[in-house]
Amino acid sequence: MNEDTKKMKIYTYPDPVLKLRAEEIQNIDGGIQTLIDNMIWTMYSAPGIGLAANQVGEPSRLIVFDLSPKEEGRNPGVLINPEILLGEDQVVWEEACLSVIDFSAEVSRKARVKVKGFDRHGNPVDIEAEDLLAVCLQHEIDHLDGILFIDHISSLKRSMYKKRLKKMLAEKEE
Ligand code: NI
Repeated sequence: MNEDTKKMKIYTYPDPVLKLRAEEIQNIDGGIQTLIDNMIWTMYSAPGIGLAANQVGEPSRLIVFDLSPKEEGRNPGVLINPEILLGEDQVVWEEACLSVIDFSAEVSRKARVKVKGFDRHGNPVDIEAEDLLAVCLQHEIDHLDGILFIDHISSLKRSMYKKRLKKMLAEKEE
């Protein structure tokens, strides 16, 4: 990270960029390195524990994450073209998202996953994750397929949230 690192705009639901299937990254060039630095900075500034490139308006298959976003313990993870290979058992976690304002809900996901992808230098990476890291990776990789955590809750809960959001957005405009 350097003085050019900048905080990016985080797009929020119902912006259509969040519904796009992000494209595979073919070349890990300087533009991608800058995007990675900016996304990490944006994630820490938010603050959040994960961010997918479509959330900052870049539909590329790239996620960043850090379960210890406090300054002393920071250790940002980067995954390019991530894929979930295996998942087992279920865990229910209360999820929220920087792109879904003012809402959280319990979501059921795999409790353990194996994920593969590439790091920012293009080296292949395999991650075995459980609990919060497993949930975080599934949530972020979902983003790359245009899926939000609210797509995993009941349609009743989702429509109640949509209604409340509509009201919130209307009040903001007044
Ligand atoms: Ni999210």
